[in-house]
Amino acid sequence: MNARVLAPSILSADFTHLGADLAACEAAGADWIHVDVMDGHFVPNMTLGPLVVAACRRATSLPLDVHLMIEKPENMLEAFAQAGASRLTVHVETCPHLHRTIQQIQALGVKAGVTLNPSTPLVMIKEVLVYVDLVLIMTVNPGFGGQKFIPEMLSKVSETRRALDELGSQAWLEVDGGVSEKTIPDLLKAGANAFVAGNAIFNHPQGLTAGVESLQAVLAHY
Ligand code: DX5
Ligand code: ZN
Repeated sequence: MNARVLAPSILSADFTHLGADLAACEAAGADWIHVDVMDGHFVPNMTLGPLVVAACRRATSLPLDVHLMIEKPENMLEAFAQAGASRLTVHVETCPHLHRTIQQIQALGVKAGVTLNPSTPLVMIKEVLVYVDLVLIMTVNPGFGGQKFIPEMLSKVSETRRALDELGSQAWLEVDGGVSEKTIPDLLKAGANAFVAGNAIFNHPQGLTAGVESLQAVLAHY
C-alpha cells in the first residue's frame, strides 16, 4: 500500500496541556503534527507563532507540518524554520512571487508546500507544481476547525492527483478541513495521501487516542 499520513491539527487541542496532547497523538500513532498559523488578516482568526512551534518541537519528535494562513509569509519563513518546522505550506493567495517563496523555504532546509482556498483553481499553482514537496487542497475555507467538508473539492483533489502523476511528482497530496471517518474513503479514492484532522481527533467521543486510532484504521482499510 502507498504511504498515507495522518496529521492531527492542534487547532483543536487543549492549549492548557498541549505537550500532553502532542505526546498522546504520537503514542497513538499519528505521523505528523499539523500546526495552523493564523494572523487575523488573511483569515478571520488568530492562533500562534514561532514560539509555540518551538514549544511543539520540544514536545514531540514527529514532523511539524506548519500551515501558514498569514499575509506576507515570506517575512516569517526564517523564524518558523528556526523554530523547528519540518514543512512550511503557504497560500497561493498570499504569494505574488510564489516561485521565489518556494525557493526561500527550500533554501532554509525545510520542505515546501503550497495550498489553495476552496475558491482558487488548481491552475494557479500549475507552474510551480514541479518544485513543491506538498500540495494542500483546502476542503473548507481556512480559519476555523470543525467546519463542514466541501464535497465539490473532491474533483479538485482528483485533478491535482492527475497533474502530479503526469509530472512524475512524489509530492504529498494533503487535504485539510472536515476530514473524518466519513470523508476519508472518497478522499483516498480521489488520490489524497496526507490527511489533516482536528475535530475528528480531538473531539472524538472516546478521546484523542481513539480519534487517532480510528482514523488510522480507516486509512489502513481502503
Ligand atoms: C482550518 C485549518 C485546519 C483545521 C481543520 O483553517 O487549516 O487545519 O484545524 O480542522 P477540522 O479537521 O476540525 O476541520
Ligand atoms: Zn490547516
